[in-house]
Amino acid sequence: MPRPATVGRLSLGVKPMPKRRDARRLASAVATALVALAVCCPLGAAEVADSVGEGRLLYRVHCAGCHGESGRGDGVASERLEEPPPDLSRIRERHAGEFPRAKVAEIIDGRRRSAAHGGRAMPVWGLTFQTPGLDSDQEGDVRGRITALTRYLETLQQPSSEP
Ligand code: HEC
Repeated sequence: MPRPATVGRLSLGVKPMPKRRDARRLASAVATALVALAVCCPLGAAEVADSVGEGRLLYRVHCAGCHGESGRGDGVASERLEEPPPDLSRIRERHAGEFPRAKVAEIIDGRRRSAAHGGRAMPVWGLTFQTPGLDSDQEGDVRGRITALTRYLETLQQPSSEP
């Protein structure tokens, strides 16, 4: 019978006070791995749930300020905008019951639309999500974020019968 786990055992043999240099090296290895993962791999179907979770986080950080937590257009900054942000929880309703994924992704991205439509109040996320000075192709990462946001927005849609 193994003895009940102690704090020492739970630490899995890692020395209680690792050298700072080691900790820094580990942190930078983890950061490099995460960047590589985000840049290299487009999302597969099995990762849709993760993608919605990522979309939720991105939404809270980048979008809720204008569009509101639930997407209804009541974010704290919305009053200061000339054009009120549209209710993102009724996109499906406005499109005859079909959530237009490709169109929504294109609006969020904004790189193709902004030139054709003049200025827009919303940032061009396809550019904003790029990391300046990162010397690698960021397109996969940018598209991954936009896909995650699109999937998350789809989960916010209200049934059309609601007032
Ligand atoms: C500065 C305020 C602001 C922020 C931040 C913002 N938006 Fe917007 N958004 C707007 C406004 C205003 C519009 C109306 C179109 C325009 O003028 O750009 C809009 C339009 C949209 C539309 C089109 C809706 C429709 O039915 O036509 C989508 C989708 C959207 N935003 C998603 C997002 C997402 C996702 C984020 C975060 C990554 C975000 N927005 C962040 C202000 C904002």
